[in-house]
This record gives sequence, structure tokens and C-alpha cells, in this order.
Amino acid sequence: MEGEKFKPIRDFTGQSIISSQQFDLETLNIFHESAKDIDKMLQNDAGRIHLRHFLSGKIIAVLFYQSSTRTRSSFEMSLMRLGAGNFTETDISFSSRLKGEALGHTVRVLTGKKGGADLVVVRDPQKGFFEAVLPYAKLTNTPIINGGDGAGEHPFQALKDDYTFREHFGTPAGRRFTFVGDIKESRVIHSTASLLSLYKDVEMNFVAPAFLKAQPDLLDMLKKRKVKFKEFDSLREMEEQKEEVGDGIYMVRLQAELYQKQNPGLAANLRQIYKNYVITPQWVEKHPSVNIYHPMPIERMVEDKPGEWKKVDGEIYEAVDFMPQNKYFGQSDNGIVVAGALMWLILRYHQK
Ligand code: CP
Repeated sequence: MEGEKFKPIRDFTGQSIISSQQFDLETLNIFHESAKDIDKMLQNDAGRIHLRHFLSGKIIAVLFYQSSTRTRSSFEMSLMRLGAGNFTETDISFSSRLKGEALGHTVRVLTGKKGGADLVVVRDPQKGFFEAVLPYAKLTNTPIINGGDGAGEHPFQALKDDYTFREHFGTPAGRRFTFVGDIKESRVIHSTASLLSLYKDVEMNFVAPAFLKAQPDLLDMLKKRKVKFKEFDSLREMEEQKEEVGDGIYMVRLQAELYQKQNPGLAANLRQIYKNYVITPQWVEKHPSVNIYHPMPIERMVEDKPGEWKKVDGEIYEAVDFMPQNKYFGQSDNGIVVAGALMWLILRYHQK
């Protein structure tokens, strides 16, 4: 999140989507109208047949160098629905990046001037990877979409969340959301809180252990936009202080794979830490009007020994999957809609 570096988009044609900072309420409204149209067309066979012509003749390069189920499949299924073709690279061991090729070169080559990809969707563990890549994408006048850059941003998830909140509340304006878990390293929270902060009178709580508190850039942005927010160490502390959770609780995973490198002691203690950042069926019954959101994946299985997985209680208990307050499958369902709207808006009038 880099403050004033980005300008709000008015015309999506040929635009790269890198950060939530490229959106203001007007941009979100433009986006929402197209997403609603695509959503309607995806609901029946006639609409799906009509959609097949939207991106006919286009090729999308889908480059995911970090694990993903939802984001990658949302783009791949959506581009199939919209009649495009794709080139997908998901395993670095089959890529010439393993021989030391820079991601910028990969993008320039795959978007070549004689029939190369029209749009590139990239996820990479390197925060800010797009800064080195954009100059190469510009060589072939090809837009890129940031599908997640390390602990940086995840604007696609934020658009999905915005679309989902509008489905549930009409508008997020005047609503309160409580974010729980790894606030510090979550690219989803950076991007989703940024979009939410555009709406009038939105309030936020952040609940995290001391070592995973929000970073100053997120809090500075909220202060600048005059968003009311509070921080808590645990859900229990919130309850003791009689602080209302609000309209939605937004859970995120504790990212064991990150702490394993940064702080192995912490990773070993993760099951103990989870106990303070968990939604149980009993919690849901005590808060029946609170929608439960999560970008997913939710931690449910851990690799006990190599190749042997065992079930654990992560941030949301299994029984909650079957309760009506669960909105995370609905969030995920909106992926194909939002990916379709993004690709359509960017490519419909774009000429390379
Ligand atoms: N929410 C999300 O980005 O999920 P994936 O990591 O499975 O893409």
C-alpha cells in the first residue's frame, strides 16, 4: 500500500489491476454494474451461450508461482465461460524462471507481438513483483492483473469481497466489520479494508496477537480516510470490553508456512494461539446476526508427518460450514463473476 501512487480508474480498457488504491467509489460502481450483468448471464444456459462470445479470440496467460485454488480457478473457469483460451504456468520447476529468467522477461515473451497473450494474471510470493514486470508488459501493450503479491495486495479478492458485501447489505456504508487473525501479513485484509474504507461511516475492528498486528501503512490509510477503528488482542478481550463485532466477522488464517521461516518457535505453538482466534458453532449461536466471511483456504488439515495429514481445529470449526451465517462459500462463488467482469472490462475495447 503506497498511498498516492495510484489514480482511480475511470476507463478499464487496457488497464493493469495492481492495487485496491486504483479504486474509488465511482470505479467500484462502474465495476459492479458489469459484474451484475455477467452474474445474471451465468445463471442460465441462454446467458452462458451469449457469454461465450465476450472474449472469443483472446488468450489469457495465467502464471501462478504460489499455491492457489480459488483465484486461479476463478480466472480459468471464467475465461472458458467467456470464450477465451489460456496458457497456464503453475509449477516453477517447469518454467525457465528456474534457470534464472526474470519474471519481466517471462511476461514479455508470453505476450509476444505475433499472437501472444492479451492479458496476464500473475501470483508471485515477491511483494511488489509487478514493479519490475509492468515495464515489460508495456512493451507489448498488455495489461496484467495482480493475483496476489506476497504480503502486499490481493485486489481481486477485495473486488470479490466488495461484490459479496453489496449482495448482502446493498452497500457496506454504515456497517461494522471485525477482522481476525494474521492482520499483519494478510494481503487480503490490506486490499479489502482499503476498499471498505471508501464507504461512508464504515467501522472496523482488528483482532490479532501482538506479533500479527496491523502494519502502520494500513492504519495510516484508515486515519487519512477518517475511518473509525479499534484494535484488540483477542475476541475474548472484545467481549470483556463489550465491543460489538458488528455486521460481519472476517476471519483469516494464521500463515504457518510464513512463520516456519521467520519464527519456527511460533509455528510450533500455532495450535495454542489459534484458540484465541476461532469461530465455533457456540460463538455463532451467541452472535446469530453476524455474517462470517473468510477469503479461504481455512486451516482444517495439517501434515503431521510427510504425506500424512490429520484434521485440526483451525480458525473456523467444521460445523460452521453448515450454518446459515457462513458466507465464505458465497464469497468464493463470486470469483468467476468478478474475474469475468475484470477481463471483459479490460479487454473488450483493448487493441494490443
Ligand atoms: N482467497 C484466495 O486467494 O484463495 P486461493 O489462495 O486459493 O487463490
